[in-house]
Amino acid sequence: MPVISFANAKGGAGKTTAALLLATELAHQGYRVAIIDCDPQHWITQWAEVSGPVRNLEVISEVSISSLQCHLREMAGHVDYFVIDLAGAKDALVTTAIGLSDHVMIPVQGSAMDAKGAAQILDLLALMKEKANLVIPHSVVLTRVTSMVTTKALLAIKGLLAARGVNVLNTPIGERAAFKELFEVGGTLHTLNATKVSNVDKAKENAGAFAQEVVRLMPPRVVRTLRPRLFSFGRAA
Ligand SMILES: Nc1ncnc2c1ncn2[C@@H]1O[C@H](COP(=O)(O)OP(=O)(O)OP(=O)(O)O)[C@@H](O)[C@H]1O
Ligand SMILES: [Mg+2]
Repeated sequence: MPVISFANAKGGAGKTTAALLLATELAHQGYRVAIIDCDPQHWITQWAEVSGPVRNLEVISEVSISSLQCHLREMAGHVDYFVIDLAGAKDALVTTAIGLSDHVMIPVQGSAMDAKGAAQILDLLALMKEKANLVIPHSVVLTRVTSMVTTKALLAIKGLLAARGVNVLNTPIGERAAFKELFEVGGTLHTLNATKVSNVDKAKENAGAFAQEVVRLMPPRVVRTLRPRLFSFGRAA
């Protein structure tokens, strides 16, 4: 069961949004998902409190360096994907979570500040490889992309990353009101009221394509559940 963490040392890069989109879309597609909320600001936990139980999805909160590995070990048998949301930092919990990940997703917006935050995570991954011989696959996922974000700005970031040999996902995450709305009203894109939020269909299409690309990159190691199971949301120490 792949462990996928979302990291960018800069705050506000779009980690939590991308992590929630991936987790809820995978759950919608029938995979059993655990989101591990490693951000002391608890955005995912707050989302879960507003949402109530979501089919196939479990949220683990109040995670520490010592409890993280226990959660991964104990839940491995009944989870298809772990999604870890990290703080916008490069601290010990971020480093530990990255070290335990099968793939690190680095959300990057079309701005130089974000590229710097992403570079700090890339440096950390390079250090782990050099000093500990720990090779952790990773990809950049472009976020908050609008038709207004110039191709020039995106190409500049892609060029910088390509020069460092970094994989960039083919599916960028768009700037969408529906993605923001999830944190206000809870639930998933599939439970949003399409009459109140604009372009929910386009948002679903985008998040679905993102999740499918991740599944192609990292197929689950266990057989998918035929009948989705209902997990209850609970806090774990
Ligand atoms: N694709 C998107 N479309 C619309 N709004 C977005 C999108 N991605 C992020 N946002 C908004 O940008 C802000 C920051 O996003 P988010 O919380 O996901 O970033 P973060 O990297 O997790 O931040 P932090 O480092 O503080 O944890 C939030 O208000 C969120 O709603
Ligand atoms: Mg966050």
